[in-house]
Amino acid sequence: MAKNKDVVMSVQGLTKVFKSGILNPEYTVAAKDISFDIEKGKIISLIGESGSGKTTVGKLILKLINPSEGKIIYNGKDISEIKEKEETKQYYRRVQGIFQDPFATFNPLYRVDRVFDLIFDSFDLDYEDKDQAIREALFDVNLNPDRTLGKFPHQLSGGQLQRLLIARALLMDVDVLIADELISMLDASTRIGVLNLLVESCKKHGMAVIFITHDLNLGYYISDHSLIMYKGRLVERGDTKKVYENATHPYTQMLFEAVPEIGERWDPDEEFLPEQVVQDVKEFYQENQGKGFVEIEEEHSVLFSDK
Ligand SMILES: Nc1ncnc2c1ncn2[C@@H]1O[C@H](COP(=O)(O)OP(=O)(O)O)[C@@H](O)[C@H]1O
Ligand SMILES: [Mg+2]
Repeated sequence: MAKNKDVVMSVQGLTKVFKSGILNPEYTVAAKDISFDIEKGKIISLIGESGSGKTTVGKLILKLINPSEGKIIYNGKDISEIKEKEETKQYYRRVQGIFQDPFATFNPLYRVDRVFDLIFDSFDLDYEDKDQAIREALFDVNLNPDRTLGKFPHQLSGGQLQRLLIARALLMDVDVLIADELISMLDASTRIGVLNLLVESCKKHGMAVIFITHDLNLGYYISDHSLIMYKGRLVERGDTKKVYENATHPYTQMLFEAVPEIGERWDPDEEFLPEQVVQDVKEFYQENQGKGFVEIEEEHSVLFSDK
């Protein structure tokens, strides 16, 4: 890893095991020993197929679930120690999530303006003129305030609602934004707009974004760093260009072969793991037994064996 990084959050050895069932409990290792740093103003893509553990990592960062092992350090503190109400509130002031289905975030009975009212009521935001600040944030995300404010959620499109949530994140000046399958609901024409916006806002405001996706193309398009997840493990990671040009883990290589045509939509719920890949990964780990996670070039590491 390069020196002089401006690290805002550090994920260290995160593991999450879900237990389901009571009489014959089953354990799912959704995430295992995940470590990475989140840098100011950088976009990190978290890439992997359905079930690989991406959302679990996002939820852990958002404190929606607790880790089984490992920790997340923010402002020098393990976030699992944040329990008190005011401190929790301050955490969510700086760490926010936007999810696949933007409609779920809005109460259909209230005008969309309410998401702004709520943050101004809850947080001590430093703006002289609240209404002006909202209008500017909306302009920032290419929304016309006059055609947006006063509307009910169903009167806006999914893409508009997502942009509205990005505007809210900008107003709050968040440090870390988790964008989980952000644009998979949007049609092709809107997607690029939302993506570009995310990149611009991130750079302009120094906001870090964890961009969760199953789509390798999107990961490449948008991110500075890429993290590839396979069955709860981080199997390859690094500078996006390097990972893409020199994909080394058999799973990453398979992802490249499986990349659909640009613009084609993947079904995020589709389970997609050909037997061959499972076999290839197993052999790869056997051949490289004992190696573990290795930096194969600067800013590019690969899991060579699963210990
Ligand atoms: N609350 C839960 N209880 C039990 N298993 C879960 C729970 N949430 C996720 N899982 C399991 O953990 C694994 C990873 O899920 P998830 O993080 O949602 O993957 P992704 O976002 O990459 O599709 C899956 O096998 C999923 O079924
Ligand atoms: Mg998910």
